[in-house]
Amino acid sequence: MRILRTIAEVRSAIREARADGQTVGLVPTMGAFHEGHLSLMREARAHHDLVVVSLFVNPTQFAPNEDLSTYPRDEARDAELAKAEGVDILFAPEPAEIYPEGFATSIHVAGISEVLDGAIRGAHHFDGVATVVTKLFGIVRPDAAYFGQKDAQQVLVVRRVVRDLDLDVRIVACPIVREADGLAMSSRNVHLDADARERATALSRALDAGAAALRSGDPIVPAARAVLAESGIDPEYLELRDAETLEPVTRVDRDALLLVAARVGTTRLIDNHLLRGPYAPASATASLPDGKDDA
Ligand code: PAF
Repeated sequence: MRILRTIAEVRSAIREARADGQTVGLVPTMGAFHEGHLSLMREARAHHDLVVVSLFVNPTQFAPNEDLSTYPRDEARDAELAKAEGVDILFAPEPAEIYPEGFATSIHVAGISEVLDGAIRGAHHFDGVATVVTKLFGIVRPDAAYFGQKDAQQVLVVRRVVRDLDLDVRIVACPIVREADGLAMSSRNVHLDADARERATALSRALDAGAAALRSGDPIVPAARAVLAESGIDPEYLELRDAETLEPVTRVDRDALLLVAARVGTTRLIDNHLLRGPYAPASATASLPDGKDDA
């Protein structure tokens, strides 16, 4: 596995691979790899000749009061893990390589990037994500790019950029990877102390309760909220939204996402479940979400 720092080096490696007729898969990351990242690398490895993983803690998607300075970083460990997954290129640029002096462009996706995490974290968040991901697509020119469904809103924002700007890349959303007790894997989980780690399981349990309420015909969001309340968690948001447009919905007439964001201790966590629609209690039992059925 090669560790490359510059755009010119990556471009040259991609040119060689393309000249050989190779396909290219990209896994954009901010490092601090866990099983979720590794599952994206495996998926890319299974489908492409050349696998590129980008490792860049993107400053523009963090607000000044957010955790940019404390975001976990361990490039040597990440490089070992990526190598073990058969990754060909780890692209780990310095911020000045991505944002040189005078950088002035920002991509804003109206609507879906302005709600939920966009409303709580601020518009800069998804502008930062959309801009850096578009740059990575321009640098690597992958056939497909792999993202985790845990960041469901991010996946929708990236898909919209690709559609609206006619970018020639396929976006693949991979299932959420969970700890044995249901906690969605996240680089930020390392910040949870023992008490917060225990209480953090309430997020996935709340989503499970929401899915169970759908099956029993009870109100979904209140059922999920009750589980969070038992653990003393007051969510930043807990909402049922259309799985494509992120419009608020009250029924699962088509695929919907039950999404939650909450601070547990000092750590901000997000999670979601895809609830398959249209939902019809009497006839659709076989295709119901079983509470672990993430997209
Ligand atoms: O999901 C992430 O790790 C980041 O938001 C991404 C997609 C790598 C952009 O910085």
